Amino acid sequence: MKLTRRQALAGGAAMLASSALARPVAPASLDAIAGEGGRRFGSAVAWAPPGLDAGSFTNPRYAALLEAECALLVPENQLKWQWVRRAPDSFDFRAFDAIADYATGRGFKLRGHTLFWTPTKWYPKWLAEMRFGSAAEAERLLTNHVRTVCSRYGDRIYSYDVVNEAVQPETGKLRDTNVTRALGGEALLDLMFHTAREAAPHAQLVYNDYMSWERTHDDKRHIKGVLKLLEGLRRRGTPVDALGVQSHIRLLEKAPVAEIVRQSEKPWRRFLDEVVGMGYQLVITEFDVNDHEAPTAILARDRMVADYGKAYLDVMLGYPQLQDVLCWGMCDRYSWLDGFDPRADETLKRGTPYDANFAPKPLRTAMAADFAQAGSRHV
Ligand code: XIL
Repeated sequence: MKLTRRQALAGGAAMLASSALARPVAPASLDAIAGEGGRRFGSAVAWAPPGLDAGSFTNPRYAALLEAECALLVPENQLKWQWVRRAPDSFDFRAFDAIADYATGRGFKLRGHTLFWTPTKWYPKWLAEMRFGSAAEAERLLTNHVRTVCSRYGDRIYSYDVVNEAVQPETGKLRDTNVTRALGGEALLDLMFHTAREAAPHAQLVYNDYMSWERTHDDKRHIKGVLKLLEGLRRRGTPVDALGVQSHIRLLEKAPVAEIVRQSEKPWRRFLDEVVGMGYQLVITEFDVNDHEAPTAILARDRMVADYGKAYLDVMLGYPQLQDVLCWGMCDRYSWLDGFDPRADETLKRGTPYDANFAPKPLRTAMAADFAQAGSRHV
């Protein structure tokens, strides 16, 4: 039998503890601390050619972070259509295979992100330009995709983001794209989840989105839209196990952390209560803290990021329906946030647990404290 990462690490720690040569024991990993409460921890990982300074497992410095802290991995990009469907009639699994081989070889559990990312912006060019002659044509394309991916990886993938970001945040309606139009938005969701259930009966099936607890106009509509989508899925008996809460949380300009939390917490809890009330599990799929609008000074900024992340996780970890927490990258050096909306002062964002030199930051300490304080999710 293969040992899981956690079993292997626990075994190693026990050996160290019983060793006569008592050397200082490494501090517990985020996953080990999360494990005390019945939760698991992990991160996004990329693939890049060896030798590149990237957030890839081929980069020994990044791999060391993953191996020290995580039990779960999710590919940052390499299972998206842009990578595996470069052409309409073929699949290219080379990059994702490399991630999957690394993950299974090292005993990580692997999430599949994502079988369909709804906004056109993220389609390969050929798909964005495709004109579907009939619903059947779109159906063939999507079911073939799901079946091919699911059968290739089998039980090596324990959880899938089956559909990502189907709701248009500004309106709360389902997004309107050439693909959703060919089938109808709801029919597309149903088709994707039913096909995934058949092709990967062992897997947790997740609807993933970025509705956030920050109280802006769009977030309110986004949240309503996601609730409506989840209600519809339940009403139609579509097999969906969990809501993936991406959790790219964001500090707001000049608002003190306590003030953002004060405004956000209640309505966000109401939202989560409704979600779990419908019988959905929760997954934090892409946690990081966007410090776009936070002050330049590092000490103050790191404090804000940590306090804000902690306040958010406090709320989330109060839900026993939440088992898995994944960061969207472990290290500021490779965070997607810099490309997404670079800071005006041109400094690197500081939204992940480790800084650009691989040193743990107050956010890492806050997360560890949160996992430790949260108590057991099993009553
Ligand atoms: C991001 C990646 O981190 C970037 O490298 C890529 O250029 C764009 O996508 N929500 C998601 C993720 O579901 O797939 C996104 O990942 C971040 C937002």
